[in-house]
Amino acid sequence: MQLSHLKIRDFRNLVDIEFEPCSGVNLVYGLNASGKTSLLESIYYLSHLRSFRTPYLSDLINHHASRLQLLAKATDQLDNQIPIGIERSKDSLEVRANQKPIQRVADITAIFPVLAIHPDSYRLITGSPGERRAYIDWGVFHVEQGFFEAWQRYKKALSQRNAALRSGQKPSYCKLWDKELEQSANHIDLKREKYIQDLYPFYLNLIEQFFPSQHVKLEYRRGWKKEESLRTVLEQTFERDLKRGMTQAGPHRADLYIQVDGKSAQTGISRGQQKVLVALLKLAQVQQFSQSAARHCILLYDDLAAELDKEHRKQILSVLKSMPIQLFLSAIEPDQIDLQGWSDVRMFHVEQGNMN
Ligand SMILES: Nc1ncnc2c1ncn2[C@@H]1O[C@H](COP(=O)(O)OP(=O)(O)OP(=O)(O)O)[C@@H](O)[C@H]1O
Ligand SMILES: [Mg+2]
Repeated sequence: MQLSHLKIRDFRNLVDIEFEPCSGVNLVYGLNASGKTSLLESIYYLSHLRSFRTPYLSDLINHHASRLQLLAKATDQLDNQIPIGIERSKDSLEVRANQKPIQRVADITAIFPVLAIHPDSYRLITGSPGERRAYIDWGVFHVEQGFFEAWQRYKKALSQRNAALRSGQKPSYCKLWDKELEQSANHIDLKREKYIQDLYPFYLNLIEQFFPSQHVKLEYRRGWKKEESLRTVLEQTFERDLKRGMTQAGPHRADLYIQVDGKSAQTGISRGQQKVLVALLKLAQVQQFSQSAARHCILLYDDLAAELDKEHRKQILSVLKSMPIQLFLSAIEPDQIDLQGWSDVRMFHVEQGNMN
């Protein structure tokens, strides 16, 4: 999938711009505050219906407008064009793809898969387990059939069980959801585990290039005791769940533990190393996606030069060059990024929310 045309209206400081990216690398450059991140963010928004830098919709709609609008043309590997349109105001959201209304975020994400690496991505390592679950689940969602449905079932049963726990219902009533929780949890866990296994060779290959003398370990933890069934764990922890008014074991507590030379990557390595490691985790994901989904996703790399030394920048660019994906890079000066060796390149200069 690639983005072949995009018209942006009132998305942050981008009041009215229209452009046609190429299928290779698109370099967006301009001074601080010109709108580079906003442009990449708008492409991310097309896929996720949320931003990678704010949970607040009001940050995204231009301060002088009441709604934002994105009109895109995506082209698939068979050269079919899929028009995608999004209109978002404070209290309404309209999403269309192929002239049909889209009801669920998952449906637009499935059509238009986008991954982003940006200056705050290191939070994948330092942030809450939810960040790492989102990382795993992006991949599982795209490559494993049935995951989304299992997750929906699990979420529903979990919220019903939690509501029962909180409202002090009888134990037998609270436990009514345990069977459903266990069934969907096993499905989710199986898919996540398989995904991490499939991802591992891609990840290992990158780690060997970037951290040749360090031992970097990835360990998936499913959210409840390894040797026990979820049903048993729910039984064992029932009194505690009741006291706290929430279920404390299950795939909603899964995590990915990342260690470098035996120390947690959260505290044991530098911020620059965390940024490189996160970039590798995402690049592995892009590579695995290309192989297993037999199509490509779009990668946004905001501020590639930020906090990466010259050598790492060169190494990352060389990996990006070898990947057959559509790429959007941003930089302040175009010469911060060496685009030699790329055959399909387009440059976009952004200046105070305009493109020239
Ligand atoms: N809702 C909004 N309406 C209007 N302007 C906004 C809105 N949100 C952010 N801005 C402004 O848009 C401008 C562009 O921000 P953006 O983060 O895209 O810049 P950038 O080119 O990535 O800069 P940098 O090089 O510093 O990363 C900023 O001046 C910001 O204050
Ligand atoms: Mg920026």
